[in-house]
Amino acid sequence: MKKTTMMNQQRRLFLRSAFTAAGIGLVLGSASPKRLLAEALAGQSGASAPGLGALFGGDFKVGTALSNNTLQAQNPGLEALVAREFSAITAENAMKWEEVHPQADVWDWQRADHFVDFGQRHQMYTIGHTLVWHSQMPESVFVDGHGRLRKRSDIEQTMESHIAALAGRYRGKIQAWDVVNEAVTDDGQWRKSHWYNALGENYFSRAFHLAREVDPNAELLYNDYNMTIPAKRDFALEQIVKFRKQGMPVHGVGMQAHVHLSEPAIAKIEASIEAIAAAGLDVHITELDVDVLPQAYDYMGAEISTNFAYSEELNPFPEQLPEKIVDELAARYESLFKLFLKHRDKVRRVTLWGTTDAESWKNDWPVVGRTNYPLIFDRDGEPKKAYYAVAGLKVAAKSS
Ligand code: G3I
Repeated sequence: MKKTTMMNQQRRLFLRSAFTAAGIGLVLGSASPKRLLAEALAGQSGASAPGLGALFGGDFKVGTALSNNTLQAQNPGLEALVAREFSAITAENAMKWEEVHPQADVWDWQRADHFVDFGQRHQMYTIGHTLVWHSQMPESVFVDGHGRLRKRSDIEQTMESHIAALAGRYRGKIQAWDVVNEAVTDDGQWRKSHWYNALGENYFSRAFHLAREVDPNAELLYNDYNMTIPAKRDFALEQIVKFRKQGMPVHGVGMQAHVHLSEPAIAKIEASIEAIAAAGLDVHITELDVDVLPQAYDYMGAEISTNFAYSEELNPFPEQLPEKIVDELAARYESLFKLFLKHRDKVRRVTLWGTTDAESWKNDWPVVGRTNYPLIFDRDGEPKKAYYAVAGLKVAAKSS
């Protein structure tokens, strides 16, 4: 029998045993799952375990959002984790209008430059978030010093020069832009934002055309939350398809996927993945996190201006997450990534909205001051059971 097949057989046996051991280790919590999984993944070569980006390299990009703290503090530990584990990065806040362009003639490029430079240094699929949005916008873009709505042509010119400056500065270094963010309401209508009120629905396609002019090679995305709500999803797709027929350049739709332990159901997420693909658009999972805390008033959106008063009942796990919920979170992440793998022909990227639980926006939203556990790395940057549930999907695939 040829040496290679002999070697592969041995390796397969080794991987299967090491993976089973990893599994058992996970369950019995005996040997550290990290070491066992590292061995399972690195095999006998001793190389450090490949991260999620490498593991899912043949399927889709796996990304994370870099917070301002990470970009400012230049936190080497976290940057090393991001470089090891992920193949895509989004700036959580550093490229938003109010952060990078707080006043008409004032630009603050420091964090955005560091973000793009990090992406270049680590060959990351780098996403620009976001060119046109209703939130984190300086009011001065829309109203003059007397509080009067500025002229349509002025607002249009301001959008044009902002996109030209921001997308122009990073031309060729940003692989995809969230060109327009959250322009549709949950009941399937245009959000009556300043953009819409001042420029009408054409502001949407204008933004895509401007982004195309400035960076001909970047992929152009429409990004939104609650894209599992049929009315919202269908209206967004209808408008995108309509404008595309009129020549608007667009490549894909971002489903933010700020989900909870059990909602929305996998079937609802799958229906939206299939609907977006059926419209001839790539699917990007752009801001995945899994809220494990009691829902405040059953509110499911991501509208930052919405928030609720703090109460002990809404913050039941200030110290640590009970094992039962640790398992539920791992199972939820496993089922989500199983779905994304099933549709790897449609899903280009899966980005987690933050790296560690410590920096997640879900600690302060929709209730300020809670202790949430929505991501796959804990507050010390250690991989959680949810991490192994996700990585394990590829190890199992590799060893079968
Ligand atoms: O930068 C200022 C800082 O100068 C000031 O000292 C500090 C204290 O108030 O605020 C800082 O701004 C905060 C900003 O994050 C940067 O940290 C804003 O108050 C805070 O509201 C903002 O929250 C961000 C939120 O978007 C704003 O809309 C969250 O971190 C970010 O995770 C969240 O992300 C959005 C996506 O962009 C779009 N989809 C929904 C998602 C969650 O809302």
